[in-house]
Amino acid sequence: PPQGAPIEEKLVDPPGVPAPIHRNYPARVIVRLETREVVKEIADGVRYDFWTFNGSTPGPLIRVREGDTVELHLRNDPNSHMTHNIDLHAVMGPGGGAVSTATAPGHESVFTFKALRSGVFVYHCATPPVPMHIANGMYGMIVVEPPQGLPKVDHEYYVMQGDFYTTGTYHEPGLQSFDMQKLLLEQPTYVLFNGREGSLAGDNALKSSVGDKVRLFVGNGGPNLVSSFHVIGAIFDDANVEGGTLVNHNVQTTLVPAGGATMVELSTPVPGTLLLVDHSITRAFMKGALGQISVSGPPQPAIYEKGPSTAFVSKTAQPAQQSVALSVGDKAADGKRVFTQICSACHQGNAMGLPGAFPPLAMSDYLNSDPKRAIGIVLHGLSGKITVNSTGYESVMPALGPQLSDDEIANVLTYVLNNFNNKGGTISASEVKAVRK
Ligand code: HEM
Ligand code: CU
Repeated sequence: PPQGAPIEEKLVDPPGVPAPIHRNYPARVIVRLETREVVKEIADGVRYDFWTFNGSTPGPLIRVREGDTVELHLRNDPNSHMTHNIDLHAVMGPGGGAVSTATAPGHESVFTFKALRSGVFVYHCATPPVPMHIANGMYGMIVVEPPQGLPKVDHEYYVMQGDFYTTGTYHEPGLQSFDMQKLLLEQPTYVLFNGREGSLAGDNALKSSVGDKVRLFVGNGGPNLVSSFHVIGAIFDDANVEGGTLVNHNVQTTLVPAGGATMVELSTPVPGTLLLVDHSITRAFMKGALGQISVSGPPQPAIYEKGPSTAFVSKTAQPAQQSVALSVGDKAADGKRVFTQICSACHQGNAMGLPGAFPPLAMSDYLNSDPKRAIGIVLHGLSGKITVNSTGYESVMPALGPQLSDDEIANVLTYVLNNFNNKGGTISASEVKAVRK
């Protein structure tokens, strides 16, 4: 039986998690959740009416010990439009609690359950239409620690994937509404970690230090997609298969079913940025399922070292054509050829780019504000965050200096500047030469 006075669970916002449990006896734990319907950003400049537990997607991570009795209070915000409930996969009993917690706006329900099995479990709203309540963000996780607790690590974080169905296309700005047709087709507009594009990137990146060990509690709310969860640049030392007690080692990618979860531990022996992705990789680079772990500390060349980069095509061998003075018409034709052969693969034939991946060169405020800067971009490539026409890009353009002559770069930039509704102007081969050095 539970010992001592009931314990109030201290909930924190994701990606935070409550502190590890050091109790060696079962207790009565009081958990208070409130369902709230809140309009928030799902991506920069894109808003969505989320349905949530405690105002966030995912809802807070609940952490108890095997044998604990959980007294769960579910309130529904008086401003809600819907009835909501909760089904916790850690519960053995009807509906995982949903049957006992249907809660109208302005009401509170209470039910208790004994956490009989340790593991990492999903909870979600199970009010009809269930897929809609989940697609709007109503899910979270409950961790039931085994009696002996979990092994000590340096950092613990909480990440939950979900698929979202908006009427507008990816990155279409403004308030977007729920698209039932896309839900039925299981074709989400967004696939996200923690309910917002960028929630775990840039300033919000998860943190680690060289030599540290990181534990991720990873869940998948769905409602539809199965996640191929992977961290680019890391190997899972331990992965709890499907969140159960079986631990696999040295895993590259682990499946997280819809309505399922896992717990992974990874080491961060070298500094740099690791990327969390759903390795159904279109979702990562074109639907938002991208997060970061930023690892700080001194370089570790014995484990990872970048070698020198050298051109294997001789630069002096190329510029035979440089001696031939091209006419303006020939320059434009050559620029078009280079654009079609090289640039359009990424920036697209119409130069409009691809949302979330390649910025537009058409009407690009970034290009037009400083055309000479583009010389260095084509020669040496570009990486890091840039903003083009109010949209952020954080991707990598390769250096094209080794494969394109000064003339070709001058021609293609002149071509781009005088087409696609850009502002005009010319770039000369000698200007390119000066930047190439
Ligand atoms: C960015 C030009 C080829 C991928 C840019 C920018 C320019 C540019 C001017 C700055 C942003 C803007 O104005 O929109 C060109 C030209 C190319 C070329 C003239 C051909 C000669 C490519 C190719 C790729 C690529 C082949 C893909 C393999 C990118 C990416 C960025 C970018 C990802 C954004 C980088 C970041 O986020 O930091 N490019 N590009 N580009 N380009 Fe290209
Ligand atoms: Cu609900």
